Amino acid sequence: MNLFDVYPLFDIEIVKGQGCRTYDKNGTEYLDFYGGHAVISIGHSHPYFVKKLSDQIQNLVFYSNSVINSLQIELADKLGKISGYDDYSLFLINSGAEANENALKLASFHNGRSKVIAFGKSFHGRTSAAVGVTDNPAIKAPINQNFEVEFLPLNDTEAVLQSLKNRVVCAVIIEGIQGVGGIQIPQPAFLKAISTACKETGTVLILDEIQSGYGRSGKFFAHQYAGIRPDIITTAKGMGNGVPIGGVIISPMFKPTYGMLGTTFGGNHLVCTAAIAVLDVLQHEHLMENALQVGNYLINEIQKFPRLKEVRGKGLMIGIEFEEPVKKLRERLLFEKKIFTGVSGSNIIRLLPPLCLTKQDADLFLDRFAEVLK
Ligand SMILES: Cc1ncc(COP(=O)(O)O)c(C=O)c1O
Repeated sequence: MNLFDVYPLFDIEIVKGQGCRTYDKNGTEYLDFYGGHAVISIGHSHPYFVKKLSDQIQNLVFYSNSVINSLQIELADKLGKISGYDDYSLFLINSGAEANENALKLASFHNGRSKVIAFGKSFHGRTSAAVGVTDNPAIKAPINQNFEVEFLPLNDTEAVLQSLKNRVVCAVIIEGIQGVGGIQIPQPAFLKAISTACKETGTVLILDEIQSGYGRSGKFFAHQYAGIRPDIITTAKGMGNGVPIGGVIISPMFKPTYGMLGTTFGGNHLVCTAAIAVLDVLQHEHLMENALQVGNYLINEIQKFPRLKEVRGKGLMIGIEFEEPVKKLRERLLFEKKIFTGVSGSNIIRLLPPLCLTKQDADLFLDRFAEVLK
């Protein structure tokens, strides 16, 4: 059987990871400034993470959601405390798209409406409702176009207020910082205004923190820079440091009923252990503070380079926009300088390194980046 050929691949096979470094099958070392698309939060193969997972595997990997799982309770407790959402509830799922799918479903159950407002350049995943609110017609099949979605320009407060005022909108869904869209940051005043308007009109505000959350921005969630409290927050990626887990963080205004949401694999013993280990390490090693410090340093230093259109971001979620396409530049960084980076669109290099990135590794990146820009 062949693999279904949907991914254009680099001719590199990564077989090992350690901290902010990965190694291919020939033993070549790479600096990981991509974290496998913002997934690696506490660093590859962190010893505490490895130990917790190894111990858990000895005991139990999975049992169903029909019995008590105290690891889910421990995870919810720790997540509530570290994020400042102790009064919210947690529903566990397997991926980012599924987290958004369930968030949208919950919103619609709650207010009985179905129209959703999303934003230009948004990316929320590839399942049906999640891809429906993603601003990319190329990845939507006809079967995904089953409810009304209005895409509005990011940071256009008036446009959102106008759409919400007749009280027919089910939910507004917005990324804490747009990732795939090219590290576009919603302004705090915009987030505040839509949060207020959502409350006034019975619209559910969903913050997709799948890429921007879990400390990457320097705060636990990027929307916390705006001081708002959304109705639902979705997480995944950095939550399990590579072990597939997603979460829907739900305000007390939603009342659960049996069977309303459900999953076979979501929140199993193995993934909860991974997610607990991530939170323990984030806290013990002050990785949010590190992301902010090293991120600010990187942003300041990158801004000094010539030929750049704009450098933007928060913490270790950084976009470097050029006037011209960056495909070649990214390939040179990877093949000549042995650094993994990401891209957004054609002109933006995206940096999403593990949150344990040191200043020394940031300097190593800056040196090698300078060389490819020469
Ligand atoms: C902001 C955002 N939301 C949702 C998703 C979808 O997550 P997943 O690929 O885990 O389904 C992504 C993935 O890139 C994302 O960046």
